[in-house]
Amino acid sequence: MAVLPWLLPLALLPWPKTGQAFGFGRALDSLDEANTYIHTHEGDNVPTSSIIDVLSANESYSHLLLTLQKSDLVDYVNELANVTFLAPVNAAFERHEIPIGSTMSKDELNRFIIDDVIFREEIVGIKIVSTLNHHGSPYVELFQVPLLLDHRFDEDGENEEVYLVENANVLFDDQYLPTIDTVVLTIDDLLTDPKETVCRYFLNSLNRNTGDERFKVFSSLLLSESTCKSLRMSNMTFLTPSDLSLHLNHIERKYLSHIRGMDDKNLFISNFLVDGIIGGNLENDTITTSNWNNEKLTFSSSYLGDEIIINDEVRATASNFLLSDGIIHYFENEIFDYNDTKSFPVFTARKYLIGLEYEDFVDEIDFRKLSELIDDNTLNQTVLVSRDYGMMGSLKNGMLYHFLEGNNEINLDTDENVLLTSKYCVDTDTNSKFCQRIKLETSPEGKKVLNSNSKIVNIVPYRVGNSSIYIIDNDISLPTKLQTAIASELTGYGKSTQFLKKFNYSKKLSKDNTFYTVFLPATELWNALDLTLDYLIENPLLLEKILDNLIFKGVLYHDFQGEQEFETYGNSKVEVSKDNLLDDKIVINNSTNLTISFESQILYSNGVVHPIADEIPLPQDMRISNQELLSAQDSYEFEKILDFLNLTFVLDSAKGYSVMLPSSKSLLQENITYLLGDIQFLEKFAKLHILPPGSLDMILDCYSASSETSPLLHTDYRNSTSLTDIPTLMNGTHLTCRELASGGMMLSITEGSGNEVRILRHGITIDNSTITSGLLLLDRPLNPTWMNHNDGKLYLHLPLFAILVGILIGVVCVLLTCGCCLMLTFGNSRKGIDGSDGEGFRDDEGRIEHVISVTETMPLLNDEEGSSMDKTKSAGGSKDGVNGGTDDNISGYVINKDTTQEQIGSSRALGRSLGRDGFSKENKGSKVGRRYSTFDARYSMNASASPIDVNNNAS
Ligand SMILES: *[C@@H]1O[C@H](CO)[C@@H](O)[C@H](O)[C@H]1NC(C)=O
Ligand SMILES: *[C@@H]1O[C@H](CO)[C@@H](O)[C@H](O)[C@H]1NC(C)=O
Ligand SMILES: *[C@@H]1O[C@H](CO)[C@@H](O)[C@H](O)[C@H]1NC(C)=O
Ligand SMILES: *[C@@H]1O[C@H](CO)[C@@H](O)[C@H](O)[C@H]1NC(C)=O
Repeated sequence: MAVLPWLLPLALLPWPKTGQAFGFGRALDSLDEANTYIHTHEGDNVPTSSIIDVLSANESYSHLLLTLQKSDLVDYVNELANVTFLAPVNAAFERHEIPIGSTMSKDELNRFIIDDVIFREEIVGIKIVSTLNHHGSPYVELFQVPLLLDHRFDEDGENEEVYLVENANVLFDDQYLPTIDTVVLTIDDLLTDPKETVCRYFLNSLNRNTGDERFKVFSSLLLSESTCKSLRMSNMTFLTPSDLSLHLNHIERKYLSHIRGMDDKNLFISNFLVDGIIGGNLENDTITTSNWNNEKLTFSSSYLGDEIIINDEVRATASNFLLSDGIIHYFENEIFDYNDTKSFPVFTARKYLIGLEYEDFVDEIDFRKLSELIDDNTLNQTVLVSRDYGMMGSLKNGMLYHFLEGNNEINLDTDENVLLTSKYCVDTDTNSKFCQRIKLETSPEGKKVLNSNSKIVNIVPYRVGNSSIYIIDNDISLPTKLQTAIASELTGYGKSTQFLKKFNYSKKLSKDNTFYTVFLPATELWNALDLTLDYLIENPLLLEKILDNLIFKGVLYHDFQGEQEFETYGNSKVEVSKDNLLDDKIVINNSTNLTISFESQILYSNGVVHPIADEIPLPQDMRISNQELLSAQDSYEFEKILDFLNLTFVLDSAKGYSVMLPSSKSLLQENITYLLGDIQFLEKFAKLHILPPGSLDMILDCYSASSETSPLLHTDYRNSTSLTDIPTLMNGTHLTCRELASGGMMLSITEGSGNEVRILRHGITIDNSTITSGLLLLDRPLNPTWMNHNDGKLYLHLPLFAILVGILIGVVCVLLTCGCCLMLTFGNSRKGIDGSDGEGFRDDEGRIEHVISVTETMPLLNDEEGSSMDKTKSAGGSKDGVNGGTDDNISGYVINKDTTQEQIGSSRALGRSLGRDGFSKENKGSKVGRRYSTFDARYSMNASASPIDVNNNAS
């Protein structure tokens, strides 16, 4: 708009059309049209020998002229020859508000001087010429800043002529000065846009956000690592590709800009660089040259130079953009085949890792001589790279652990937890291959987590070649050796780890080339073994055998399926089966059910550890009997008593008896010892402490639901917290169990007083029978004296035969005694009485009365009642028995020691004979002695009766 107002006055100027006035001396006669413009000066008589003359001749140049004068450049202009001088009119200065009389430098003036004589007739379309400004390039000396001319006839309109010098219109015709062979062109604008140098221009382009012409990638590649400067980019043609056409992702861009990607970068950009300034109308002279990669390129053009065409194929979107030392053609199409591996870099995992700024990781891989893993694009793999990857402490194996076989291993579509297989593989002893695994799980937030502590950062992997690259936020390291692996992961498994340590399994199971599955029982499972564990600890070989049985050769992960035979560390065979993938239960030898899971399994250097809480799988051939359990306890006294009573068979596991053991100390405190000699009492005592098969189950079931975790409990009984009918070996006598709020277990005799004993601990025998038998440790003995005496039941259990025999013997004795007494009494009363006899009579009479009272309530019972009537009395009595009746008792004991049926019989006979001997002996002695001897006889008779009962019960 601003142009038009002053175009009009200029056109009305009186002086002749310059184009017609000058230029004939150039002898362009060959061009017919040219002649129409060329006029001789002779008719005008105007001396036009210099540029200054021309400028002076017209007011329109006054501003320029004044500026030349002020700038002291008149002489310089006068000396010019063989050039084309661009003369801006006053309006051009005014448009840029340049005050009249301001100065300009010679360089600035040179922008207006083309180093060649240019007639418009010679120009068809766009022509690139050079000016006298020789300071175009910082690197190439005397590089002339180029200038763009465009001369054409509008074809659509009235064939109107258009002549442009960059942004300025050429006014009037060419004014030719033949004497100096120079053309003066009048232009209507100043060539104010100073052209930037190549490097500056691309630098500035990074900050320019105008227009659609985006080529920041290319710019940044040129500028990175000062490539532009170091390669002294000047006097060049740039085939500038748009960002989009390059198809470089940010990692590739980063890599190319990285110093380690310098070679690739140079290879890359060299495709786009051509020496020299090539542009303008190339219609009649296609230029064939080569780029910096020495690849042949042809330049042609269309639309009179408006559009530059590369290789007759790729058309520039914008062409001929001039810089002070270069020219840019901008392309939005792909100029080259970027898949051409000769001209363009091939991206590899290495380059991507560099682009992702994991040079340390790359260095480490190189250092570990694993370079081919990241250089070979044919490898089908997944690479896991940690953000906090540390240089130090990563061995080759650890490096390999960051690579997975296959590039599609991490499936983001499912939440399924899987074990990934790393490239860290070892040949095992058995000629197979063990590849260390990596746990991949999906967190509740949907994040993918490796080995429970490394989150995957990029949901979509970076793919290069056949590799997928994932970035993880924490480094993953190879599973550690057993000791560390289980130590860091588990609380509640202290016993197992302690045992493993004790037997040095940590070392044994972390050796090269051998791989194991370790079942790690929870501490509470060990504790549940209680007394059994005591025994195991005292017998380390057995414990080790159990541990051996917990370790399988070969690796069994949670995703095991089907049936397979494994060999344990103890070299025994086990059959393992698991129904399906998702089921957590594996069955060992069709008997032991164990729960394993993805979450709980712990990877360690040589396999996997499965913490288990169900039960401890014991070796099938392991046997631990009650006898053995007892031996680990303070059981001396109790065992002596069993021995004494010939009851040791209950310790045989096969019989299924269980034993409640009061410690020797507690027995002695209550004065219960085999030395007591009171066989009846001891027998009751012992039978109270022996549980027939099944009773132990009831006691264990007594633990209430609060102790649900106890694996000893059967679910069927959970709710019954007290059972009143737990049988003992003593017929008709049962135990009642009661669980305390504190979890302790109390036992009392059901058919007795409320006295309770506490079960301190328990242990179960190990055998292959289905009957639970074992050992209970009591805080104090169940005392037979607690039994309820009023209860007739106590005697009903005696075999009928025994009762009959007892009654018979009793009756016979009573009758005999009565008879004797009567005879004596009558004899004495008839034959007269002396003092001593009278005494004797009273004694005898007293005894008779006693015997009679016994007969009334059954004779055998009376003795028992008498001894257990009062606890202290009975205790005292038995003590007396021990101390007083030494002879008899000791002999009785000695005889009873070897308890076979025959010996029992003979001991009975002996006891009787001893009794008779004593009786007869004392019959010979004093009457007091006689009285004692009758007691002893009665006592020994009872004592001999006891073993019969026992044998009857046992058989
Ligand atoms: C101009 O060009 C002619 C012929 O090409 C040459 O003889 C003459 O010296 C040149 N003049 C200047 C000032 O360069
Ligand atoms: C610019 O480059 C072209 C082509 O390589 C060359 O012919 C010319 O001499 C160069 N110009 C300068 C000033 O070096
Ligand atoms: C190219 O050649 C044609 C005819 O041969 C001519 O008319 C045209 O002007 C030439 N163009 C250039 C830029 O020299
Ligand atoms: C280059 O390779 C990519 C992927 O292989 C393909 O999609 C693209 O079409 C190829 N480009 C050319 C020009 O061949």
